[in-house]
Amino acid sequence: MLKKIQETAHFIKDKVEVIPNIAIILGTGLGELAHEISDKKEIPYEQIPNFPLSTVEGHSGKLIFGKLGGKDVIAMQGRFHFYEGYNMKEVTFPIRVFQALGIEYLFVSNAAGGMNGSFDIGDIMLIDDHINLFPEHPLHGKNYKELGVRFPDMSEAYNKELRLMAMQVAKDNNIKLQHGVYIGTQGPTFETPSEYNYFRIIGGDAVGMSTVPEVIVANHAKMKVLAFSIITDLGVIGKIVECTHEDVQEAAKIAQPKMAFIMQEIIKKI
Ligand code: HPA
Repeated sequence: MLKKIQETAHFIKDKVEVIPNIAIILGTGLGELAHEISDKKEIPYEQIPNFPLSTVEGHSGKLIFGKLGGKDVIAMQGRFHFYEGYNMKEVTFPIRVFQALGIEYLFVSNAAGGMNGSFDIGDIMLIDDHINLFPEHPLHGKNYKELGVRFPDMSEAYNKELRLMAMQVAKDNNIKLQHGVYIGTQGPTFETPSEYNYFRIIGGDAVGMSTVPEVIVANHAKMKVLAFSIITDLGVIGKIVECTHEDVQEAAKIAQPKMAFIMQEIIKKI
C-alpha cells in the first residue's frame, strides 16, 4: 500500500507545478464548484496510477488543480463510494495520496437526508461530528506508522477553528447555516422511515453514504477537516416522500453556490 501511495503521489508531482496544501472533495451534485477554480489543470482518474474509477451517475471522476479563493487547491470531482463495490482502502486511497502530497486541509461536501425537524431541503449543514455506521472500517488491518497512529483520536474530527470560521462567514453574509451530526451509512438504499427515526434517536441530524471514511483517514493523517452536507431530502416523520438520485442532484445543485461561497471565503483566510 505504501508503495502504491508513493507511486501515485510521484505521478501527480510530475504533472503539476505547484502542490497545494488544500484539498476539496466535491459531493453528489456539487461538482459545479469546480467552475470557480481558475488556472485549471485536470487529470482524469483513469490516467492516475492506482486510482479506482468512479462509476456513479453525477460523478465525472477527475482531479482538478488550480486556484480558489486566491490559493492553490486540488479538487476531487467524483469520489469513491463503498456502495459501488470498492473496499474502504480504495474509497480512501485519494486521501492517502493527499497525505503523501502534504495536504494539510481537507474540505468535504456531500448530499444528505435531514432528520432534524428544523431542517429544510436546500439547507447547508456544517458537520460538527459524525457517527460511523459503515460495516467496514478504513483503518481495519495493519497500521503503518508512516501513515498515523494505531488508535487515532477522534475528539475533534471536524476542526473547531474552521467550523467557527464557517459560522462567521455565514453570519456575515446572511447565509442560513445549520449544523449537526452526520451519520455515515453504506447505502445504496435511502432509509426507511423507521431507519430515519432510529438515526435521529441515536443522535443524527443528517444521513448520507460517504464522507465518514475519508474523514477518518484524514484524521489519521492529521489533516484539518471541514465538511458540509447539503440537505437534499427529509427523513423527518410526516415529511418523508419518495426520493430519487435525480431529486438529490437537483436539490444539491440549488444550494451549492452558497456552500461554494463559504468554502472560498475560508480558503482566503487560511
Ligand atoms: N439517505 C442517505 N443518503 C442520502 C440521502 C438520504 O436520505 N440523501 C442524500 N444522500
